[in-house]
Amino acid sequence: MKEEDRPARKVILDCDPGTDDAIAILLALASPELDVAAITVSGGNAPLARTLANACSLAALSGCSVPVHAGAAGALLAPYPPGWKGNGEDGMAGVALPPGAAPASALAHDAIRTILRQASRPVTLVGIGPATNLALALACEPLLATQVEEIVLMSGARGEGNATPGAEFNAWCDPEALAMILAAKRKLTLATLECGRIAAVTAARLAAFRAAAGGRASETAAAILSALLAGRPEGMPLYDPCALAWLIAPHLFDAQPAAVVADLGPGPSRGRTAIDHRGRANVRLLRPLDPDALFALLAQRIARLP
Ligand code: RIB
Ligand code: CA
Repeated sequence: MKEEDRPARKVILDCDPGTDDAIAILLALASPELDVAAITVSGGNAPLARTLANACSLAALSGCSVPVHAGAAGALLAPYPPGWKGNGEDGMAGVALPPGAAPASALAHDAIRTILRQASRPVTLVGIGPATNLALALACEPLLATQVEEIVLMSGARGEGNATPGAEFNAWCDPEALAMILAAKRKLTLATLECGRIAAVTAARLAAFRAAAGGRASETAAAILSALLAGRPEGMPLYDPCALAWLIAPHLFDAQPAAVVADLGPGPSRGRTAIDHRGRANVRLLRPLDPDALFALLAQRIARLP
């Protein structure tokens, strides 16, 4: 079957927009390879009220009709910690978004379960924020895991963290939720911090993005990338889009098996993802092979939006 003849992959996109989430959401909604059945939202980069409003605005900006569902305001066992200050109070680094429609009435984990239960073919779960909503959905109805084709998370780090020296932010926000996903025994792929560091936004990549010259969605995405880059001549890691680009253009990535365990302890390494390439692999770890081509994909796809 030719690639273009393959039916679009049905996905649920769980997020905490968040500047890099915004780029990932626009990429997902602009790509015919993906059929985004729902966007589900948690707190994380900003409090839930803000991330939910941002998700509704991004759906409106994309011109796509996709339901947005409110989810977890905190982790399974504790409130979420404060988000990265670089996202600003509005979670969008000060970049203005259009008003969005009201969110759908169902709560995120209920909506995830309904979509899985009613799906005529397996669904891919994509998580680019704390994994709380995904973990709750699978915990409430474990049998639905058979309806999950694959899980792709932006989560974890092979080396140094960004939230703490040991932990990546999404994993740190809710390590128990990540552990539940790791235990779900579904095909699981992680875009770790190292992915985002390779796929960093730089002045050259931003210029190439702007050259694609699309509509308001492209302009907004360029403004977000520019805000992320401001004052960082070395570039700024771009994390969340890697998880979606993997599903859209897997040839742009290397995927290596690894055994990953989430540290659930109370100490300084809480949320660390201990990665062992010798153990029984339970995930694949992504590494971008051509970050310039990844940015060209972002630009070309988002330029298709209004
Ligand atoms: O550590 C990076 C992750 O934390 C990204 O998903 C970013 O949006 C924040 O949620
Ligand atoms: Ca995120």
